[in-house]
Amino acid sequence: MSNRIDALIPGTFVLDGEEVEFGHGETILQAATRAGRYIPHLCWHPEFGAAGSCRICTVKVNGRSGASCTVQAACGQDVESNTPELNSQRKTMLQMLFVEGNHFCPSCEKSGNCRLQATAYVMGMEGPHFEEFYPDRKVDATHPDMMLDLNRCILCGLCVRASEQADRKNVFAIGGHGINTHLLVNSESGTLGDSQFAATDRAADICPTGVILHKRRGFATPIGQRQFDTKPISDQVGEP
Ligand code: SF4
Ligand code: FES
Repeated sequence: MSNRIDALIPGTFVLDGEEVEFGHGETILQAATRAGRYIPHLCWHPEFGAAGSCRICTVKVNGRSGASCTVQAACGQDVESNTPELNSQRKTMLQMLFVEGNHFCPSCEKSGNCRLQATAYVMGMEGPHFEEFYPDRKVDATHPDMMLDLNRCILCGLCVRASEQADRKNVFAIGGHGINTHLLVNSESGTLGDSQFAATDRAADICPTGVILHKRRGFATPIGQRQFDTKPISDQVGEP
């Protein structure tokens, strides 16, 4: 009972040995982000509800593992995040994400602005480790202003939530099971060209990797001058 009451009263918890304040209803990741503390994550974005799908944000709370984007902050929690064990697990999950899709960073328009690539850098990933799947995925260039390169989709679901919650359009969904899970486009043809998608949609600029791209904007910012080229993602907590 006392734990339930504590959870409703804003207070502090300890993250890697330092106190972090939290407010009503905040998760550990929300409170840490507001305090400028980095917990690696991919499928969470401060504008949208948590999905808890990528598990990169997994921390230990009083010794038990949990996704920090979904675990409510509570008084007195002892949260471990930046430990060799947790970072090693994150690196393994990132390597799995890389081999599951086709990620060729040097030729990707999103290189330097990609959160998957930037997170892999700070987790010390130097290679894929696992055998590459090389899946057969499509590029959808049917829309006049936007394109989808599904080779890079990590199924984080952020475009689904942005299109539903911010754009009120439901252009995207995730379908299939297991290894066949994939991104779906809500249109008669199943392609972007006859969907309601627009370049001004919130979902047009939410993808953490290089799937959802604006046409005719390729390499507008030179490689080497992009968001995560200049500062690691761990030093840009809460920045869009
Ligand atoms: Fe996430 Fe991008 Fe795939 Fe959408 S297209 S699920 S935002 S990786
Ligand atoms: Fe928490 Fe993806 S950010 S599970």
